[in-house]
Amino acid sequence: MRPTAYAVIAAAAMASTLSLPASAQTAQPTEAIVKTMQTLNGGQKVRPSGAKGQCFIGTFTPAAEAKALTKSVAFDKPSKVLARFSVGSGNPKVMDGNKMVNRGFSFRIDDGGKGQTEFVMVNAPINFVKSPEQMLGFLKARLPAADGKPDPAVVKAFSEANPETTLQGKYLASKPVPGSWVGVSYWGIHNYTLVNASGAKQLVKFQMVPTAGEIGLTDDEAKAKPAEFLADELKGRIEKKAPAGFDMIAIMGKAGDEKTTATEQWVDEDKRPRVKLGTLAITALEKNETCDGGIFDPLNLADGLEGPANDPLFVERRPAYAISIGHRGN
Ligand code: HEM
Repeated sequence: MRPTAYAVIAAAAMASTLSLPASAQTAQPTEAIVKTMQTLNGGQKVRPSGAKGQCFIGTFTPAAEAKALTKSVAFDKPSKVLARFSVGSGNPKVMDGNKMVNRGFSFRIDDGGKGQTEFVMVNAPINFVKSPEQMLGFLKARLPAADGKPDPAVVKAFSEANPETTLQGKYLASKPVPGSWVGVSYWGIHNYTLVNASGAKQLVKFQMVPTAGEIGLTDDEAKAKPAEFLADELKGRIEKKAPAGFDMIAIMGKAGDEKTTATEQWVDEDKRPRVKLGTLAITALEKNETCDGGIFDPLNLADGLEGPANDPLFVERRPAYAISIGHRGN
């Protein structure tokens, strides 16, 4: 973990926001977003998103097919993995069976050298907002009114004016409640580009498909579960050597897909050609302090793997996470 580097990024992010004129600050609302997230979780010294979670370690083993698509050394040989599963929201006591918050999966493929690559994914193929400005509006609409609760009329008006912000919730509502952190798919959501040794580029989205298959609970089964069951379920699964991992899948994009935003899937995305790039196997739980000492930075990508050029949400993530770690009391 590199707290010093994060502190530098955070300071730069804050300085650049604070020294800008008011009009430009609106265009770069990172600090305001993180502050509003922290207000919404009552200023607790925890992550204001994915506050509850479990750190773990594993290995990533690339598939032979990956070589044709990317020159990245992350897909060249097996690497160590440090990772964290989470339950969405800034509430560290959120129920593990809560259907309406997402499950998060952050991981670092770490070859000890130039292959270091990080992803921060959720169990939905789309995000709940498409831009930093929309994220700030979404959060502000949920700030407590005089009675200490969000005003339903304000939330409704925001949703009606920004209908795409309701789609991730609708997706989660249509699916079973995850009965295991390793029993659900996670998506990188953004458009990525793989670059191979000849310089050929391929637009992709990433999906982590559980090797255990989908493990879902009905709403009644989820309600009958204790507030905390996901970490024990994972621990028991590892002890029994039951499947606990994911195939990393590249969903193949085509011309025009790069124009989509984070609240949209590609046309016929679920029917697109898919290539397995590797397998991530979980080997053991890790003490949470190991993950809490740093961030997972989705912009940290090995050569041969590029983030989207035109997605304002993507570039906002590094400074947001860097500012957040400065506030969360590690
Ligand atoms: C597709 C877009 C995004 C996804 C899928 C996503 C997902 C996640 C997940 C899974 C976590 C938990 C991280 C962990 O376990 O360590 C997280 C944390 C967080 N997210 Fe995002 N996020 C997205 C975009 C953003 C944006 C645009 C911002 C703000 C501008 C943001 C702000 C935060 C903050 C402040 C945290 C807490 C970070 C920390 O303290 O380490 N996220 N996000």
